[in-house]
Amino acid sequence: MAKEGLAGVRQSPEDSIVWREEARKFETPDGEAFLQYRLVDLSRTSSGRGGVSPAAMDMVHTFVPGSKRGLGLAARLCDAAFSHARSHGMRVIPTCSYISDTYLPRNPAWNELVYKDGQPKNSSSM
Ligand code: COA
Repeated sequence: MAKEGLAGVRQSPEDSIVWREEARKFETPDGEAFLQYRLVDLSRTSSGRGGVSPAAMDMVHTFVPGSKRGLGLAARLCDAAFSHARSHGMRVIPTCSYISDTYLPRNPAWNELVYKDGQPKNSSSM
């Protein structure tokens, strides 16, 4: 299995999370826990303008094996994925209910990356 890079290497909470670009995943080194995303082209939308990337990460699914739940592992996957989105000038679409209902309310600083159709895409200071 190809490992394409370590995500969030500048921030210790994400050090062990692996970014698999070809699979559109952030995952633990064993691949058992992961965050799946897809890239969305915002250039076709009304707000797909401005000087940053016309793309968003639609975070569609987060999974942690039952034996490892409740330890903050999903939050670490999200930390890495949101850091990646910010560093690549991308918005986030929080399709996964864990992200929209639990992670974002607990990490409100990331709300500035959340894309809502009709909202100016480059309204943050990215
Ligand atoms: N939606 C929203 N919140 C959820 C959730 C869901 N589907 N499943 C669990 N949570 C909450 C828990 O209630 C828990 O809250 P608490 O801290 O108040 O007890 C919190 O997430 C745990 O956070 P964290 O430790 O960071 O998450 P985790 O590592 O246990 O993993 C999931 C969370 C959702 C990824 C894991 O339970 C899982 O894989 N579930 C099956 C797949 C799934 O439902 N994915 C989400 C939809 S895409």
